[in-house]
Amino acid sequence: MKRQAAGNLRKEDEGRRVLLRGWLHRRRPHGGLTFLNLRDRSGIVQVVVRPAENPAAAEALEAARLEWVIEVTGTVAARSAAAVNSEMKTGEIEVVAEEARVLSPAEPLPFGPETPVDEVAEETRLRFRYLDLRRAELQRNLLLRDRITLETRNYFHENGFVHIETPILTRSTPEGARDYLVPSRERMGAFYALPQSPQIFKQILMVSGLERYVQIARCFRDEDLRADRQPEFTQVDVEMSFPSEEEIFELVEGLFSRVFPIVGVEPQAPFRRLTYAEAMTRYGSDRPDLRFGLEIRDLTEGLGASGFRGFRATVEDGGVIRAFSVPGAAGASRKAVEGWADIARALGAAGVLTLRNRGDGPEFQVREALSESELRWAAERLELGEGDLALIVAAPDTTATSALGELRGRVAEQHGLVGEGSQEFVWVTRFPLFEWDGDAERWSSCHHPFTAPLPEDVPLLASDPGAVRAQAYDIVLNGAELGGGSIRIHERPLQERIFKLLGMETEEARARFGFLLDALRYGAPPHGGVALGLDRLVMMMTGAESLRDVIAFPKTTSASCLMTEAPSTVDRGQLEELGIQVTPGPVSEPSE
Ligand code: AMO
Repeated sequence: MKRQAAGNLRKEDEGRRVLLRGWLHRRRPHGGLTFLNLRDRSGIVQVVVRPAENPAAAEALEAARLEWVIEVTGTVAARSAAAVNSEMKTGEIEVVAEEARVLSPAEPLPFGPETPVDEVAEETRLRFRYLDLRRAELQRNLLLRDRITLETRNYFHENGFVHIETPILTRSTPEGARDYLVPSRERMGAFYALPQSPQIFKQILMVSGLERYVQIARCFRDEDLRADRQPEFTQVDVEMSFPSEEEIFELVEGLFSRVFPIVGVEPQAPFRRLTYAEAMTRYGSDRPDLRFGLEIRDLTEGLGASGFRGFRATVEDGGVIRAFSVPGAAGASRKAVEGWADIARALGAAGVLTLRNRGDGPEFQVREALSESELRWAAERLELGEGDLALIVAAPDTTATSALGELRGRVAEQHGLVGEGSQEFVWVTRFPLFEWDGDAERWSSCHHPFTAPLPEDVPLLASDPGAVRAQAYDIVLNGAELGGGSIRIHERPLQERIFKLLGMETEEARARFGFLLDALRYGAPPHGGVALGLDRLVMMMTGAESLRDVIAFPKTTSASCLMTEAPSTVDRGQLEELGIQVTPGPVSEPSE
């Protein structure tokens, strides 16, 4: 007999004889009978054991404990009306056991698939990951991930993209993190780097004429980890020849319109587009959360010359005055305002000032510091209505931006302004090409060094590199960066010039990227692409709080795998073969 999936049994199966194999999920004796829940990947079904009628089956199952693997053959029966469980998909039926046996016993478990997560230490969950993965929620996430991946592959295939695997043992790819290195045995002292992304390979595939590439690609980055970062993660990596930015946006919008409905979300394409400059001034972030308003307005023009010294001094020093209003928050307590001020101070601002309209027009926190007309002007600019509160920050531009950006998010959360269930996609475009690296005292790429500048900004490369805008974009959902990409440089002289601007002398550029510079000589088509973080996408779609919940075998924030205890020391012989000597020192235990 073929095995039956337990979770798929329904009323229509009544009378069928079925063979079930799975885990003993629960057991409950009741009135001389035993009720068991048998669980397999498809779900759970109730099994009834009647010792009087089937003593052998009863005896075999009597010995079985929770999480033992069992086999039951029996007949599907309808439950009596009183016994129907509407919370279970299989709640209208049960299987009456006729034969049964234990396939695999289990020792007492450190935790079961239904032990509440807050009763098990995270470390224990990760050490016994195979048990944690028995949880219904994690299984759902992995199954959903599989569906998303499958739809993604199909979508790109239908659109003429070729899935191509690029090497894992490779050279350094600059994406801003440290490399994971793998020593070579053949060439002692030489190392491969694991790819931070397939960036250079996908560009080279365009030079080869493949035109449309996609890869569900594993990437490796040795960087500081957080809930939304893992040292190894997966990208949906895409590259196209001859694209416009718009074509890439449409391609991603099409993909999201295909995968988000899996979780009941229908994205409204085309998504909004904001330039980086707009995003920063209006929302204080390059990944703005557009589920709520709280738009930042600039007050420098009207208040910079006001009677309030704090404003005047800031503006005289080249700073700005910016603010946003919070509807209905005029009654905010001193303590609440102090809390916001602390947030602003932590980001370098002197604090936060308030403008309230309790019903008698706008009142500034520092009484009489602003004139009646200044107050009216500010209130109008901020659309400050009756009952509203505005938070004002006067500081250097970047400080005001980051403080207000942070405050926007906090205030929205505290005041319940984040639209439940709303999904706000936005493209952020025209990022700066470079940022100044104060430590290294040179320019560094905001995205990566292969990103093309906007053609009209190329003259600024010589005069004002910091002002050059890039043909680079990010796709942002509810304040989280899902992916990013750019149109690439396909002309060798421009690529060489950018390397130079990044402080790479010709020789170094040749040593690191000679193969790319060479490839650009031989008819490189204009090209561009994007990479989406698959783990982040699945995390957003499942509503999971951490990437760990959508990755089968994740790593801790100290980049270790507690189950396999990787990374681990290796024996001396292996090191000798690689010509490696390790400086003696304590090897710390893998930890959370
Ligand atoms: P970027 O570095 O922006 O671009 O990465 C693209 C997307 O990958 C995801 N991501 C991560 N996910 C989990 N853990 C991490 N440590 C991690 N780092 C990045 C994010 C991010 O938006 N080669 C370019 C793309 C291109 O230009 O086409 C690149 O890798 O969701």
